[in-house]
Amino acid sequence: MAKEFDVVVIGGGPGGYVAAIRAAQLGLKTACIDEWKNEKGDPAPGGTCTNVGCIPSKALLQSSEHYDHAGHAFAEHGIDVKGLSLNLGQMLARKDSVVKQNNDGILYLFKKNKVSFFHGRGSFVKAESSGYTIQVKGAAEETISGKHVIVATGSNPRALPGAPFDEKLVLSNTGALAIGAVPKKLGVIGAGVIGLEMGSVWRRLGAEVTVLEALPAFLGAVDEQIAKEAAKLFAKQGLGVHLGVKIGAIVVGKKEVTVDYTDDKGAAQKAVFDKLIVSIGRVPNTTGLNAEGVGLKLDERGCIAVDGDCKTNLPNVWAVGDVVRGPMLAHKAEEEGVAVAERIVGQHGHVNFNTIPWVIYTSPEIAWVGKTEQQLKADGVAYKAGTFPFLANGRARALGDTSGMVKFLADAKTDEILGVHIVGPMASELIAEAVVAMEFRASSEDIARICHAHPSLSEATKEAALAVDKRSLNF
Ligand code: FAD
Ligand code: NAI
Repeated sequence: MAKEFDVVVIGGGPGGYVAAIRAAQLGLKTACIDEWKNEKGDPAPGGTCTNVGCIPSKALLQSSEHYDHAGHAFAEHGIDVKGLSLNLGQMLARKDSVVKQNNDGILYLFKKNKVSFFHGRGSFVKAESSGYTIQVKGAAEETISGKHVIVATGSNPRALPGAPFDEKLVLSNTGALAIGAVPKKLGVIGAGVIGLEMGSVWRRLGAEVTVLEALPAFLGAVDEQIAKEAAKLFAKQGLGVHLGVKIGAIVVGKKEVTVDYTDDKGAAQKAVFDKLIVSIGRVPNTTGLNAEGVGLKLDERGCIAVDGDCKTNLPNVWAVGDVVRGPMLAHKAEEEGVAVAERIVGQHGHVNFNTIPWVIYTSPEIAWVGKTEQQLKADGVAYKAGTFPFLANGRARALGDTSGMVKFLADAKTDEILGVHIVGPMASELIAEAVVAMEFRASSEDIARICHAHPSLSEATKEAALAVDKRSLNF
């Protein structure tokens, strides 16, 4: 007899595990199935985000930034470091232990909230009037059933045609987080979020990094003024970004990878790398789900087709996170997971796609929420802009990190904040104030009139809001 649940969640990444916890909090008998295992074969819930995404990348970004500061920034503070050396093994081991703490934390949360965890691959068997039968294939085989099913099976890295990932020389994000010795020459294809974050890590640790990007504009989704400022700062750091290239043949040798490409002037180029990271986007993952077996519809891009409420074409089957449309972000997946659990019990779960923040964890960080200036122009919206440089912020000077700026975009008539864009220190934290403000439909004057602690980086946010009305106090 199959174990019966109110809700079965397939996938234990940020979308799935959070959906399972919220469903259990709401009194639903909940199961979560996840197949990820660590090198010992033990369950490692948390998905891409915890195992080979957000968490390990931020661990390495932090460690490599400490190393970079010890080598280049400490002297200015009067701290002389002699005999600085890199213990890459320890750095990678620390990253692994941070991942493990997060895996264990999720298992603990499942226990605390009485979510039944199944380790293995979940696939649809059949639909019945009472719900769905799901097979779990792990160390053992089991069959369970759910009145509702939430699919949260995530995404996989996109490979370049002709250059499959071997994780030795041609690396996806998985290999890029586990290079055992700093490569002399590191190639990166794709100047997107992963390319810039992982390129930054290995550059700081000593690699000569060349990033090859197909598009002619740098970070096209980012506000142009902010992207230009970031490009300048990255170039100064020595991150070699080549835009408008066309990748040709990729030949994988014994110890190196040769990439033929055409540059933005149409000239043929050849580059030889010790390692090549391919970060050209991700594809939704429905492998092994048997979606076709129960008639679960996919869209033309291979995502599970859902409406605005994450409902699929099948009754009581929902899908959230990277496997559905929308930005591939952990916090977007979590918000959708919570909203679906609440909809199942008849509440009005809601995700505001206009206020989902983006962060790129380079140094300086880039963060934004809402519309860019180029989007407002294209939409014909009349707006006012205000910027404030960190160079004029006392806390940034004290920190020794004065690069970048905060930029506000507000409606010309109503002053409602339409977008906030930051490149600079701790942009990832500063953006939260802008998200709250936009969620409450604040005006730039609201932020300008709120008392911000001194000295703090957040004063740059207040000053940028003041700048919308051309009344900055410190610039
Ligand atoms: P996933 O996290 O991919 O989880 C899906 C889970 O389902 C996996 O554990 C998988 O094994 C399991 N699964 C799949 N099929 C089955 C099945 N049939 N049965 C059982 N289990 C199954 N986002 C951010 O917001 N901030 C960041 O800083 C950030 N950094 C990133 C860095 C990198 C290098 C990468 C690659 C991604 C990063 N992301 C970041 C994106 C983020 O990781 C994803 O948006 C997020 O993980 C999506 O969550 P999810 O739950 O939809 O899917
Ligand atoms: P991406 O979409 O951010 O960037 C891919 C880049 O590759 C684009 O600039 C694209 O123009 C370029 N590209 C595509 N095909 C190419 C080709 N053939 N040759 C050269 N360039 C090519 O994707 P990325 O970096 O792989 O990351 C995947 C997703 O993971 C991100 O979109 C994001 O949703 C998520 N992520 C989020 C992070 C964060 O929130 N800080 C960190 C890392 C990943």
